[in-house]
Amino acid sequence: MIRMTLIVGGLWFSLVGGRASAAQLPLTPWESLATDEVGEANRSGDDLLELMKREFTDKGKRVFRDAHPRGIGCVAATFTVDPNLPAIYRTGVFTEPGKKYDAIIRFSSSLGPVGDHTPDARGMAIKIFGVGGTKLLDDQPNAVTHDFLQIDGRTFPAKDTHDFAGIARIKLNPLSIFGFLRESPITHALELKAVLDLSSGNPDNGKGLPEMQFFSMVPYLLKGKNINTPVKFSSRPCSAVGHTPLDGGESELRNDLQQRLNKGDLCFEFLYQFYRDGAGYEVENGMSDWGGDPNLFTKFATIVIPKQTFLTDEKLNYCDNLSFQPWHAIAEHQPLGNINRARKIIYEKISKSRHASNNDTSKYLEPTSISAFNALTNPTYSVWDAVTVPESN
Ligand code: HEM
Repeated sequence: MIRMTLIVGGLWFSLVGGRASAAQLPLTPWESLATDEVGEANRSGDDLLELMKREFTDKGKRVFRDAHPRGIGCVAATFTVDPNLPAIYRTGVFTEPGKKYDAIIRFSSSLGPVGDHTPDARGMAIKIFGVGGTKLLDDQPNAVTHDFLQIDGRTFPAKDTHDFAGIARIKLNPLSIFGFLRESPITHALELKAVLDLSSGNPDNGKGLPEMQFFSMVPYLLKGKNINTPVKFSSRPCSAVGHTPLDGGESELRNDLQQRLNKGDLCFEFLYQFYRDGAGYEVENGMSDWGGDPNLFTKFATIVIPKQTFLTDEKLNYCDNLSFQPWHAIAEHQPLGNINRARKIIYEKISKSRHASNNDTSKYLEPTSISAFNALTNPTYSVWDAVTVPESN
């Protein structure tokens, strides 16, 4: 296949077999292209596909995500724009103060497939419904969803896609760690340490999901009539959440979440943190820390997860069949930086492949409302409790 990358007038084109694909958006003033980043993203996606083949297809298993395969919880929620949001911030999904969106949230573990009791980084992926405007994912411009993907750590453990691809390759071929370290000894050693800090050393290990703060890690745009700036987003508990000791089992986080949701609603504030010139904030560097001082964050919305039963096969299965990805987005919230640009290529590749392998290609397309999820009332909870991947359905 002929593959060629062209940079024309600040536009980023990938020609695959003569056909334009992937991102064709102008780079924002805060962005710059990394060397061969489209090639790097495609190679990294192919490595992840190979890992999924080894982990799932070769073993005759149903194919789960390569990253974040373990769905801990799949819950209905609402996402309400702050009624007092200052006018300057009213853009994109935040245009109308007080507007309430239906949402689905998938909580996950990033390693896989392992139980909740394995120390790890946890994901909180939010999909809101009823969002108008053209979506940035090439093959789903009319989708009505907008996604916000977050992890319980402020920064990504690699500065760019090239380095993250090198880290992922170690899983595929453990000996490649020597080449990775030789290439850039200090930076790459620090990145491997950051992977451990985010997973086995994560300070959230031992806590329940409702006690955690989640972060976008990498930047996005906030663009409106009177604002045009990179931002990072975050979700943190609305108020201090008490700690209940986890049960220590492979479903300890699922059980804890369900027990809390048996008793009442859960609440998170959705916040933005703004880019500041001269503060050393970087857009192209996934490890750039914009600081954790609570005063750096401005509330834009409230997320409520109402009292509910989510621990059923049907509901967990529903989220596993969804695709959450940063480019399910409108231009006002365009994902920024080379890690995000690579995610456009990689998530699409991985998601399409896993849906094809599971014979459910129709589920690659975005749902149009939360009603299909709300209609799942079968209380059976069995196979999805298994740590090992269930056999193909
Ligand atoms: C180059 C860097 C990255 C690569 C290669 C990568 C790769 C992936 C892949 C392949 C998936 C599964 C997609 C699917 O099958 O639908 C995934 C899911 C996910 N990623 Fe990333 N990722 C990257 C960066 C990030 C960053 C910066 C975040 C920060 C928040 C993140 C958070 C997540 C979350 C929360 C999920 C699970 C979403 C869900 O619940 O479906 N990833 N990632």
